[in-house]
Amino acid sequence: MKATKTILVLLIPVLVRQASGNLNTYPAPHGIQASNKFQVYLSQGGNRKSSFTYITTSDQRAKEVSHAKGGRSVSWTSFSFSGGAVTAEIHTPHDFHSCIVRPQHYGYKCQRTGSKTAHVTVSSANRMMSVEFDYDYGSSNADIKDKMLIFADPPESNVPNEHDSSVLFYKAGVHNLNGQIHLNNKIKTIYLAPGAWVEGGFLSTANHGVTLRGRGILSTRSYKWHDNRFSWGMLNFDKGNNHVVEGIVMVDPEQYFFRGLSDHNTIRNVKMIAPWTYNSDGVGMGHDALVEDTFIWANDDSFKVYTDNMVVRRCVVWQAQNGAVFQFGWWSGRDMQKVRISDVDVIHTDWCTFKGNNCHISGNDAVIDLAGDTKSFKVSDIVISNIRIEGSCPRLVYFKMNPASTGSVTNMHFNNWSVESQPTHDSLHNEIQGANKATASNWTFTNLKIGGHCINSPSQADFSLESHTNNIKFTCH
Ligand SMILES: *[C@@H]1O[C@H](CO)[C@@H](O)[C@H](O)[C@H]1NC(C)=O
Ligand SMILES: *[C@@H]1O[C@H](CO)[C@@H](O)[C@H](O)[C@H]1NC(C)=O
Repeated sequence: MKATKTILVLLIPVLVRQASGNLNTYPAPHGIQASNKFQVYLSQGGNRKSSFTYITTSDQRAKEVSHAKGGRSVSWTSFSFSGGAVTAEIHTPHDFHSCIVRPQHYGYKCQRTGSKTAHVTVSSANRMMSVEFDYDYGSSNADIKDKMLIFADPPESNVPNEHDSSVLFYKAGVHNLNGQIHLNNKIKTIYLAPGAWVEGGFLSTANHGVTLRGRGILSTRSYKWHDNRFSWGMLNFDKGNNHVVEGIVMVDPEQYFFRGLSDHNTIRNVKMIAPWTYNSDGVGMGHDALVEDTFIWANDDSFKVYTDNMVVRRCVVWQAQNGAVFQFGWWSGRDMQKVRISDVDVIHTDWCTFKGNNCHISGNDAVIDLAGDTKSFKVSDIVISNIRIEGSCPRLVYFKMNPASTGSVTNMHFNNWSVESQPTHDSLHNEIQGANKATASNWTFTNLKIGGHCINSPSQADFSLESHTNNIKFTCH
C-alpha cells in the first residue's frame, strides 16, 4: 500500500509535466529594478508565473552624446519553454484598443483582454518579439518611446561546472567587471546564469575558441560611449577562432555589440538591444561565420557582410536611425564569395524617424548598402532569400561604387523579398552603380514584392540602375 502511494506521488508530476510542457522563468537579480512600464505573467497549462521584466532607458546616453534621444526606454523579459504554448499576459502603462506582435511573420495575435492588459500566445521557442500598442506605435516622425520585447528561449542545456578552472561562472546577481576582461589562456567558457547581470565585456587573447553562453545579461550601460577600456565592442573575439556566443541578452553597447573578425564563429539565440548611440554595430565576423536565431537592434550596421561562406538565418532586425541591415562596404577591398542569408525579419527601419517627410539620410543607410570608399571588389555568389521588411522602408538598396573601383560584383541573388511599403516622396531611391573597371552584373531580384505586388522592372520599385550595371533583372514567378 505504502509503496503504491509513493509510486503514484512520483508519477503524477512526471505525467503533468509531459502534458503541459516545461516553462522556466529566470530569477531577478538583486539590485536591478523591474520595469515601471510593463509587467509580464506567463502561463502554460494553467500554471501562471510572473516573469521578471527589465527596463533600461536612453537618458544617460542622451546626456552624454548629442545625437542620442532621451526619454526612451525598452522593457524586456526572457524565459524558456518546451511543450505546449505559453500565454504571455502583458500589463501596460496605458490602455489601448489594439496591439501587434512583430515579426508579423510569426502569426502571433496580440489581444486586449482587459484594461491595460494584452495576451500573446507563443507556440514555439526561439521567438524574439516586439509587442507594440496603439498609444505608442510610432510613425515616420516619431519612434516607439517605450518598447516591450519578449524573448522565448529553448530550454537550456549543458550548464558548465562552476568549479571547472576553464570556466568563468557568473551566478544570478549583479557583477561589475570594471571594463573589459582580457581572458587568460585558461578560460574556454564564460557562463552567465539566468538572472546574472554582468556589467562589462570580454576580449579574447588566446588561440583557442571561447564559448560565452547562458541566459544572463551582459551590459555596458554604465560605461561611457567608446569607453577606452573596451576594444571595439562589448565582446572582442578577434583573436582565436571557433568562438561561440549563445543565449545571452546584450544591453546598451558602449560601441559594437560583437566584433570577432576571427574565423568559424557562431552567434546563436543572442538578443542585442538598447543601442541608443551610433557605432552600435551588431556583428562583424571573419570567414565561415554563422549567425542564427538572433535578435539585432542596432544603431549602425546590423550585419557586416564581409567574408566568405557567411551564413545568417532566422534572425530579427530592428534597424535604428543609423546604419545598414547588410553592410558590404567600409573597408578598402571586398573579396567575398558564397554568402547565404535567409529568413530575416526586419521589423523596423528607423532612418527617417525624427527627420519628417521627404527625409535625407546618409549613404550608409539602406537594407543592402555599400558605404565608405571600397575600391577593390571581388564579390560573387551572394544569395539573400526570404527577407521580410515591415513598415515603410525608406531605402532597400544603396550600392554605388566609387568610380575608381576595380574588379566586379556579380551573381548577387535576392529571392523572395517582401516590403510592406516604400515612402512615396522623391528624395530617396534605390540605386545601383558600377564603375568603369568594376561592373555590377548578374544581379537578380526574384519575387520582390512591395505592398504585395510583385516587381518585374526596376522602375516599379523605384530602382535606378546607373552606369556600369549589366544584367540586373527583376522577375516574378
Ligand atoms: C521562395 O518562396 C517560395 C514560395 O514560398 C519557395 O518555394 C522558394 O523555395 C523560396 N526561394 C528561396 C530561394 O528560398
Ligand atoms: C553572368 O551570367 C551569364 C549567364 O546569365 C553568364 O554567362 C556569365 O558568365 C555571368 N557573368 C559572370 C561575371 O559571372
